[in-house]
Amino acid sequence: MHFQTLALGLAAAAVSSAQTWSACDPTKKAGCPTKPALPTEEYAIDFKKGAPSQGWFNSTGAPTYGPNGATFTIKKVGDGPTIQSNFYIFFGYVEIKLRAAPSKGIVSTMVMQSDNLDEIDWEFIGSDTGHGQTNFFGKGNTTTYDRGWAYPITTPASVYHTYAVDWTAEKITWFVNGAPIRTVKYGDASALGGKNFPQTPMNIRIRNWVAGTPGNAQGVINWAGGLADFSNANTKYEMMVEYVKVKKLQPLWLLQVRRQ
Ligand SMILES: *[C@@H]1O[C@H](CO)[C@@H](O)[C@H](O)[C@H]1NC(C)=O
Ligand SMILES: *[C@@H]1O[C@H](CO)[C@@H](O)[C@H](O)[C@H]1NC(C)=O
Repeated sequence: MHFQTLALGLAAAAVSSAQTWSACDPTKKAGCPTKPALPTEEYAIDFKKGAPSQGWFNSTGAPTYGPNGATFTIKKVGDGPTIQSNFYIFFGYVEIKLRAAPSKGIVSTMVMQSDNLDEIDWEFIGSDTGHGQTNFFGKGNTTTYDRGWAYPITTPASVYHTYAVDWTAEKITWFVNGAPIRTVKYGDASALGGKNFPQTPMNIRIRNWVAGTPGNAQGVINWAGGLADFSNANTKYEMMVEYVKVKKLQPLWLLQVRRQ
């Protein structure tokens, strides 16, 4: 299947969906604490085995853990269970096996984000049963232009798929079930000749949130498929994550040593 062609005309709504926040942006503030790099070249966490004992923290709310992995549940406006990696990678590969949360207004995400708001996204609108969205932002520039794209994916809210991002200094490639579906190069127009290309160390955030919340910008609500429906008191919208795998991009000198 030629995703690139299918995707034409399916560009995400012209609205910012950046999930940008940073506790300390080193380009705006002096004395930000130094952040730990991923200590190993490769890392994998299987949430089916329970909560991670290290490497992650609960940022707003928390998932629960069980045989299906981590479950990120939304029951009411304001819920937004999120885990965030303590570690940072400076280029590398991130893969997640995820089943998105269903229904309008609910957005499941895997976001890589730096402290000065470079960002690479996988996003799933609960009411869009045939697509997932890829996006990227440079230094918190949230004018969308042509950066956000939707790709055909079979019922992401009822089927687990693996979604990945391979991020190097030259390009970002997004994958679905191992197949590349989109590549953005450093110098591409959408990367503004490099200016909008993510190029600072990023942590990983996994989040289920209510984008369709009264009070949010109308564009965000529309992008999310409308206001989330909480009219039934028993409603819960669950995003499930089985695992996350991360590979650091190997420093060039290390590759050179290995080639010798
Ligand atoms: C996050 O909260 C969950 C649910 O309470 C708990 O199981 C888990 O240990 C917490 N994780 C961290 C890193 O504190
Ligand atoms: C933000 O990105 C848009 C393209 O998406 C570009 O037109 C604009 O100049 C950028 N703004 C800054 C401050 O770099």
